[in-house]
Amino acid sequence: MLQNYVLLREFLPRDQEVFCSLQEDQDVGQFVDWLPRTRYQAEVAFWDALEQQVMPIRSRFFYAVEVDSIVAGSVGFTLLSGGSADCGWFLRKNFWGKGIGTKAVALLVEDAFVKGISKLRASARSQNIGSIRVAEKCGFQRLGEKNGRVFFEVIDNRKI
Ligand SMILES: CC(C)(COP(=O)(O)OP(=O)(O)OC[C@H]1O[C@@H](n2cnc3c(N)ncnc32)[C@H](O)[C@@H]1OP(=O)(O)O)[C@@H](O)C(=O)NCCC(=O)NCCS
Repeated sequence: MLQNYVLLREFLPRDQEVFCSLQEDQDVGQFVDWLPRTRYQAEVAFWDALEQQVMPIRSRFFYAVEVDSIVAGSVGFTLLSGGSADCGWFLRKNFWGKGIGTKAVALLVEDAFVKGISKLRASARSQNIGSIRVAEKCGFQRLGEKNGRVFFEVIDNRKI
């Protein structure tokens, strides 16, 4: 029985199929501006994610969301200037609506702060109620809305 034990981990070579099918998925892609990707684009992104893990100076951190040892989705952040980063999240459709997104994004925020990032930014389409709720539940403050997107940030209060 699934207990929904959620963890984040680095992607491994054996995750290629699930990573690519997630990025090709039309259900996921309807909510994410840069998705769906073609298989080729997804493979390039996958190998970039693996390469980033061994870079001496890393700018992108993409993690597999593992639920009871199954890869359910992906979350990550890209460093911006001034100690901030832009983050995002998406899960395979059969994992939606089970509290997994909230747990995964809470872990992502914690990971970013542990890595010394002081401010995380995110955005979602205004109609994407699930993603907006995930941001709110993980401590993101709403900055405003523009061109059909809601913008958020969360600051590491331990540093203030
Ligand atoms: C967005 C996404 C990551 C949310 O993860 P999730 O595991 O489904 O969300 P959770 O189960 O943790 O739910 C978090 C909150 O959102 C609400 N919620 C989730 N999906 C919802 C939906 N479709 N409509 C309304 N509320 C929704 C839940 O009820 C919960 O709120 P509550 O605790 O106040 O009841 C996931 O649905 C997903 O991957 N969607 C497709 C890709 C995507 O939209 N990515 C984000 C792009 S900005």
